[in-house]
Amino acid sequence: MARHLLVTNDFPPKIGGIQNYLWELWRRLPPDEVVVYSTPHADAAAFDAAQPFKVVRSREPWLLPHPLLARRVEKMADYYGAELVILDPAVPVGLIGPSLKVPYGVVLHGAEVAIPGRIPGVRSLLNRVLSGAVGVIAAGGYPAQQGERSLGRSLPVSIIPPGVDAERFAPLDQPSKRAARSELGLPTEGPLVVSVSRLVPRKGMDTLIQASVAIRRIHPEVHVVIAGAGRDRRRLSSLIAKLDAPVKLLGRVEADALGLLYGCGDVFTMLCRSRWGGLEQEGFGIVFLEAAAAGTAQVAGRSGGAHEAVVDGETGLVVDDPDDADCAAESILQLLDDDECRTAMARAARERAEREFSYDVLADQLAAAINAMVRQ
Ligand code: GDD
Repeated sequence: MARHLLVTNDFPPKIGGIQNYLWELWRRLPPDEVVVYSTPHADAAAFDAAQPFKVVRSREPWLLPHPLLARRVEKMADYYGAELVILDPAVPVGLIGPSLKVPYGVVLHGAEVAIPGRIPGVRSLLNRVLSGAVGVIAAGGYPAQQGERSLGRSLPVSIIPPGVDAERFAPLDQPSKRAARSELGLPTEGPLVVSVSRLVPRKGMDTLIQASVAIRRIHPEVHVVIAGAGRDRRRLSSLIAKLDAPVKLLGRVEADALGLLYGCGDVFTMLCRSRWGGLEQEGFGIVFLEAAAAGTAQVAGRSGGAHEAVVDGETGLVVDDPDDADCAAESILQLLDDDECRTAMARAARERAEREFSYDVLADQLAAAINAMVRQ
């Protein structure tokens, strides 16, 4: 396949959906054809040494769309013999695209295309990036639609949604669920609602905390656990204390423990919401796929592409107004109280994760999309 250089601010060992998406896909491409250029991290040396492809780290903490970055990227492309540069995300890093002498493609995720696409000055910059690209990789139908909406015409887009490792995330039987709860230091009895995400306002953890109080009225022994770190932690801790909510913030959970956490829950939820009048929305929601692969039915907030990750009524439920804690509680209770429906959704979710979101299949599609860009 075509040798190329991926340029991004968001690459592991940093945690997050974009980082996870890029790594899971790019590590499955032929390693000799991939060079990644990203930013420094305290654990980068060990991480980079374990990758089958070359990773180059910048000195500066952020790659800013500066002419100097454009010249550096050109030099690197030349040095490594890259026929193509892939810029992620389209704004801000992608802004160097139009000034590159090497052909470039961009990756679209969610907020970083929806927001600039609706702010007049920035929109024209985004549109320059999009119209100069030889190809666009969209991490779901929603970012593809946002890109085309911004440009006002169709794009040479390949929709490659996030996937999931269905071996790393696998269903647990009842004894294993109990053992997992005990290993994670969680109560072994009573309904358990699990959530995982970066702690930022879009993820709706405040609504989940409020909803937990309503759920406790029906299930006094319910426990809600939220894994993840982020700037919203202090606000969420105060809300839990204020409401005396049955919620525990677990902080950042080790990658090895994440599969157990998804698998030992009765219901997974992330009540993502749209903010700033729709400017900020959920791109897709890898956490829903991780829960699905672990055989746990999900409740999602309706925002951006979350309804592509959770099929309403089939693999889980989508709450139309994710700011309404009572509606959210109702949906979570609906699943907690109906064993048959919950089990059927959990099974359907696992089957769909295996069938449609295997990273091996998605990586083949990515390789085809990259080759098509080079042939442009
Ligand atoms: N190990 C560990 N520990 N992983 C975590 C933790 C934690 O405490 N918290 C979050 N993660 C991981 C999740 O397991 C998941 O793989 C990722 O971080 C979060 O992914 P998303 O739910 O998709 O959220 P995002 O906002 O960071 O990602 C953005 O880009 C994605 C890819 O395009 C959003 O736009 C998503 O909607 C989109 O799917």
